[in-house]
Amino acid sequence: MENNEERHIYPISDRMLSRRDKEELLHQHGLMVWFTGLSGSGKSTVAIALERELHGRGILCRILDGDNIRCGINNNLGFSAADRVENIRRIAEVSKLFVDTGIVTIAAFISPSNDIREMAAEIIGKDDFFEVYVSTPLEECERRDVKGLYAKARRGEIKNFTGISAPFEEPLHPALTLDTSTLSVEESVARLLELILPKIQKK
Ligand code: ADX
Repeated sequence: MENNEERHIYPISDRMLSRRDKEELLHQHGLMVWFTGLSGSGKSTVAIALERELHGRGILCRILDGDNIRCGINNNLGFSAADRVENIRRIAEVSKLFVDTGIVTIAAFISPSNDIREMAAEIIGKDDFFEVYVSTPLEECERRDVKGLYAKARRGEIKNFTGISAPFEEPLHPALTLDTSTLSVEESVARLLELILPKIQKK
């Protein structure tokens, strides 16, 4: 792509209030909690419980979730490898806006490859990015089959279904791993709080 000058694009930033101004207003630090894992692994459930817990402590949060985002900003994207990259690229750009507003931003997307997650971390900024692997095994996700999608994928009615006919790469160095087949939602939230509360509340 051409650079900004060649495209006659001149971003402003110096006259706008800064992230620090927003963080002072909110008495918190913005960061990104990035859940990755198979469909049905528990990403959304844990994300929602985390948001409720933080909100109760007076911390402003924003959840971005796969099925919701795919109804709106990403309603023109499917599940090819290229569309998944574009899905996550847009989500990461939107997330960055929230993090830069001092908000604790919580993303729940399969985000199936290390390259995709690396791209998200680079867009958002590695220091603000906490990758959380919801490692619930495929057998358990398929047993739960909350949306009935695994059964459809096994019957060949959904193509490129993650874990069945499309790949999922385990994260190499997640900040935290949560297996919801052995941990309760409360236990998962407790582990998350231990990781992120000191960063949100740092002076
Ligand atoms: S991602 O791979 O691009 O990160 P995302 O998290 O946005 O995926 O969307 C995953 C959700 O879309 C799943 O939880 C499921 O409800 C639905 N879905 C529909 N088709 C597929 C598919 N082929 N593979 C995975 N999930 C699918």
